[in-house]
Amino acid sequence: MEITQSVAELRRAVRAARQAIGFVPTMGYLHDGHGSLIERARAEAGLVVVSIFVNPTQFGPNEDYDRYPRDFDRDRQLCERAGADVVFYPDEREIYPPGFSTVVDVAGITARLEGEHRPSHFQGVTTIVAKLFNVVMPDRAYFGEKDYQQLQVIRKMVRDLHFPVEIVGCPTVREPDGLALSSRNAYLGPSERRQATVLYRALQEAQALAMLGERDPKALEAELQRTLETEPNLKVDYAVVVDAVTLEPLRLIDREARALIAARLGGTRLIDNAAIVTG
Ligand code: PAJ
Repeated sequence: MEITQSVAELRRAVRAARQAIGFVPTMGYLHDGHGSLIERARAEAGLVVVSIFVNPTQFGPNEDYDRYPRDFDRDRQLCERAGADVVFYPDEREIYPPGFSTVVDVAGITARLEGEHRPSHFQGVTTIVAKLFNVVMPDRAYFGEKDYQQLQVIRKMVRDLHFPVEIVGCPTVREPDGLALSSRNAYLGPSERRQATVLYRALQEAQALAMLGERDPKALEAELQRTLETEPNLKVDYAVVVDAVTLEPLRLIDREARALIAARLGGTRLIDNAAIVTG
C-alpha cells in the first residue's frame, strides 16, 4: 500500500494504472507542423486524440475567423497518416451551447506581446484548451513552439490550476527557406510569400550576434529591426528579446531568452520566434 501527502506522487500512482493518452489540439487546415505534434504523440502515448475546432472566441471582431481556411477531408487524411486514433471535430454548439458564460483567464503573461495586439485572444485560447482538457482528459498535450507565447500561457494555466496534464513543447517545423509552417501562409500571394522569409532571417541574425557574445537585449532587438526593415512592405507589431519563461523584458541576457516577432504583410499576420543563446 502506498501512502502519500503529495499531489504529484498521488498522480503518478494513479496514472500508472492507465494507458497514456496523448492530445493534440488544433484549428485544422493541418500541415507538417501539426503532423510533427501528432507523430510525437504517437511515439509517446497509447491513444492519440486530435481535436479540430476553429475556436471563434480566440478571434477578435476584425480578425480572420470567417475566412480561416478549412478542409476537413485533407485534415482527416493527415491525421490518419500521422497516427491519430481519434479525431474530435465538434461544431460550435457542442462546445459553446447557448448560455455559456464561464472563461479561464491567465493574468500577467497574456497582457504582453500578442495580448497587446489581440485583446481577449488568450482568454479564448485558455478557455477552449481548458474545456478540451476536461473533455479529452489527456496525460500529455502537445503544443508547437511556433506559438511560443501560447505555449508559455498554457504551461502557466496548467500549473496554476493543477491540470493533471504534462505539456510537451515541440520545435517549429519550417519550409526549406526557413518560413515557419502556418495555416495562415495560405493567405500569402507569391511576392508576399518571398518577403515572409525575412522573419526567419532576422531571428538568425539575432542568434548569430548573441553567439558572438552580445548580451544586451536592446542590441539584439535593433538587429532584428534592421533586418526586418529590408522588407519595406512588412509592418512590424513587435520584435523583442525577452525572458523565455515570463516573456518580461530583460536588462541583460543572463538567463534563457527568446526572440519573438509579429508582423503583417498585406492582410496576413505572421509570428515567429527563436531561442537566444549567448556565446
Ligand atoms: P493551430 O494554429 O491549428 O495550431 C495547433 C498546434 O500546432 C499549436 O500547438 C501550434 O503551435 C502548432 N503548430 C502550428 N504551426 C507549427 C509549426 N510550423 N511547427 C510546429 N508546430 C506548429 O494553436 C492553435 O491552433 C489554437 O490556438 C489551439 C491551441 C488549437 C486552441 O484553439
